[in-house]
Amino acid sequence: MKAWIHGYSGRMGQEIAKQIHSQSAQWKLVGGSSAKGLYYQEGEGISWDRFENLLGEANVLIDFSSVAGNQQLLNAILTQGNVGTAILIGSTGLSPEAIDEWKNLATKKKVAVLLAPNTSLGVLLLHQVSKLLGEVLAPLHFDIEITESHHRAKVDAPSGTAKFLANGLAATLDKKVVTNREGKREDNEIGVTAIRGGSVFGEHEIHYLGDEEELRISHRALSRSLFAKGALLLTRWVAKQKPGFYRLEDIRIEEMIALIKEK
Ligand SMILES: NC(=O)c1ccc[n+]([C@@H]2O[C@H](COP(=O)([O-])OP(=O)(O)OC[C@H]3O[C@@H](n4cnc5c(N)ncnc54)[C@H](OP(=O)(O)O)[C@@H]3O)[C@@H](O)[C@H]2O)c1
Repeated sequence: MKAWIHGYSGRMGQEIAKQIHSQSAQWKLVGGSSAKGLYYQEGEGISWDRFENLLGEANVLIDFSSVAGNQQLLNAILTQGNVGTAILIGSTGLSPEAIDEWKNLATKKKVAVLLAPNTSLGVLLLHQVSKLLGEVLAPLHFDIEITESHHRAKVDAPSGTAKFLANGLAATLDKKVVTNREGKREDNEIGVTAIRGGSVFGEHEIHYLGDEEELRISHRALSRSLFAKGALLLTRWVAKQKPGFYRLEDIRIEEMIALIKEK
C-alpha cells in the first residue's frame, strides 16, 4: 500500500506515519501534507503547486486534518485526474454538505471513500453489540442513553463517535437522537450527553436503564496509537471495496476478522 497522509504534522498524522514505518513490508509512505507544509519521500521540501500531482502517486489517501483541511483535500482531488483507489477520512466534525461533496467525488472520480469518525476496532464492535442489546431491551421499556468524555481541546461536541453510536441505535430501534437535552425525557429518545475536560483520550458509554436492572457497555481509548492502527486496518478494508461512499455501518465484523487473519 502506498499512502499519503493529509494532516501529516498533526498528532494523528505522526502516529499513523509511525505505524506505517513499523509495517514496512505492507506499507510505504509516499508523502504527506498539512496546513504549513508538504512532505514528500521523507521530508523532502517541495512546492505546493505539485500537491495535486503528488496525491496521485499514492494508491490510498488518509485524512486526519481538520474541517478546513479536509475541504482542501477534497478540492485538490477534484482538480487532478488520478487519485488512487481509496480514501479514508478520519477528520471529524464535517458538515452534511461536506459529506455530500465526498459522496459526489466518490462517484465522479470512481474511488472508494470511507468516512470513519472513529477508527478504533473496539468502537466498531461496541456499535454492533449496542444494536443487538437495544433490539432486546428497548421493547422491554429500557431507556437508552449515551455519555461521552473527551479532553478539553476537542472542538466538536457531541463527538462524531457518540453520534455514530446513537444514530446506529436510533435507526435500528426507530427512535430519535436528542443531544444536550433540556427538560423532560420523552419515551422514544436516545439521549447523548458530552463531558469535556482534562486530557481524556475518549470514553463512550451506552446505558440501558430498566426499572429493575441496568446494563452498561463502554469503550475507553487508552492511547492515540489505537486509532492509528485501526486507521490502517480500515484503509485496507476500503482499498478492497468497489468505488463508492462508505460509512463504518457498512463494515461487517466478518470482513474485519478476515483482514486481521490476513496480516
Ligand atoms: N477518526 C478517529 O478515530 C480520530 C481520532 C483522533 C482524531 N481524529 C480527528 O482527526 C483530526 C486530526 O486530529 P489531531 O489530533 O491529529 O489534530 P492536530 O494534532 O491538531 O493535527 C491537525 C493536522 O491537520 C493539519 N491541518 C489543519 N488545518 C489544515 C488545513 N486547513 N489545511 C491542511 N492541513 C490542515 C495540521 O497542519 P499544521 O500542523 O500545519 O497546522 C495538522 O497536520 C481531527 O479532526 C480529529 O478530530 C479522528
